[in-house]
Amino acid sequence: MTTPGSDAEPDPASAGAAPGEVLLDVSGLKVYFPIRSGVFFDRTIGHVKAVDGVDLSIRRGETYGLVGESGCGKSTFGRGVLRLNEPTEGKVLFDGQDVAALAGEKLRSMRRRMQMIFQDPLSSLDPRQNIESIMTEGMNAHGLGGNSSARRTRITELLEAVGMSASALRRYPHEFSGGQRQRIGIARALAVEPDLIVADEPVSALDVSVQAQVINLLEELQGEFGLTYLVIAHDLAVVRHISDTVGVMYLGRLVEQAASDDLYAEPLHPYTRALMSAVPVPDPDVEDRRERILLAGDLPSPANPPSGCRFHTRCPWRQETRCDDEEPQLRELSSPTSVAPTGAARTDGSGAEALPTNGSGTDGPGTTGVGTSGLPSNDPSTSRGIAPAAHLVACHWAEDIRDGHLRPKSADQVAADQGVYIAAEGGLDPAAVIGAGRDAV
Ligand SMILES: Nc1ncnc2c1ncn2[C@@H]1O[C@H](COP(=O)(O)OP(=O)(O)OP(=O)(O)O)[C@@H](O)[C@H]1O
Ligand code: SF4
Ligand SMILES: [Mg+2]
Repeated sequence: MTTPGSDAEPDPASAGAAPGEVLLDVSGLKVYFPIRSGVFFDRTIGHVKAVDGVDLSIRRGETYGLVGESGCGKSTFGRGVLRLNEPTEGKVLFDGQDVAALAGEKLRSMRRRMQMIFQDPLSSLDPRQNIESIMTEGMNAHGLGGNSSARRTRITELLEAVGMSASALRRYPHEFSGGQRQRIGIARALAVEPDLIVADEPVSALDVSVQAQVINLLEELQGEFGLTYLVIAHDLAVVRHISDTVGVMYLGRLVEQAASDDLYAEPLHPYTRALMSAVPVPDPDVEDRRERILLAGDLPSPANPPSGCRFHTRCPWRQETRCDDEEPQLRELSSPTSVAPTGAARTDGSGAEALPTNGSGTDGPGTTGVGTSGLPSNDPSTSRGIAPAAHLVACHWAEDIRDGHLRPKSADQVAADQGVYIAAEGGLDPAAVIGAGRDAV
């Protein structure tokens, strides 16, 4: 953890944290949106708790992937960090400085160091400006790049770095393909020399064929420009490929966080297991054998999240004690037990059988090559010397689930318990119930 800036605050425009040290330190971040009602009297009748108490830190040079289904608060988290959405509560320290305490020129300098790349490159590039004007806008505003000829040289270099030629400078955004526009968006972000890039679904609007190119480009640029990334995506293959650390969000909270390889090798939270089990596995034998964990019902309303564990209304492992009324916190799990107790310590009264003790039975999500996009898993040998993050999980029963002492209920059982109506024969279609797997490439 870094310490907040003292009275003699460092210049927000200059880099402080060394590679591997914490650059972004977020604690207890909440971003609520008011729900208003009334024609004559504009009353606030509640709040959408889009982000509801997230702790997360990112080290310089690290790529942190944030995943979760649509509406869980990923984008709002990214925007809250940049103060594009004003946080309701909590602290964001960037390079040791409290972002909320900055105003005027210091806030502007800080914002320069934290850039955002958006999902839809067309709507984020002004259609009336040519590429030169788009790229120099930020440099002009922050007094970067020297005189106009030096700026032109710089933006030409940046365009080359993202695989575009100088001939792009005189053209307009609509003249480019989606992939090229995203490259221009990346070059524009780089023009103001950021430290942190928040990439919100950077490839989900692109053709499958160009997604891998843009992801690979982001990786190359990281080394070249010493960048730190927060990559927000619902595509588990993209996140796995690019991230050192992955955080899984559910309904405004972080439910699991681990080094990418650890998370994909052994997802511990029931929600993460369900997300991973919804992604197809390339090996047909593994695909046939593995069990899908289907989730019942929709994401509950963030205006009125369930009590206790927010996932309890859809959780196949929900227990009668603790789950409904005690909110689990992120924690490291105790060591695995070697032998499952006979008669299995079930607390849900279902009388279901215990699983094998190694937890590698058929309930385990397939972990062989998550994606179908042609993106391999992250190779530790190519990582940038970022020490693996601790594996944290927010579930009361994670040890029992991991060690095979508890068995998941079927989606139909969970739905019946919760009174959710299932119309489709043979249970729920994973694509219909689980957004995160829906658009996997
Ligand atoms: N400006 C806003 N005003 C009111 N509610 C908002 C606002 N922005 C987001 N929300 C709500 O906050 C919740 C989280 O939204 P957010 O866009 O952060 O989710 P997300 O995880 O990024 O989803 P997606 O994967 O679809 O982009 C949603 O219920 C959304 O409707
Ligand atoms: S605490 Fe764990 S077992 Fe209980 S509902 Fe939440 S995720 Fe499921
Ligand atoms: Mg979003």
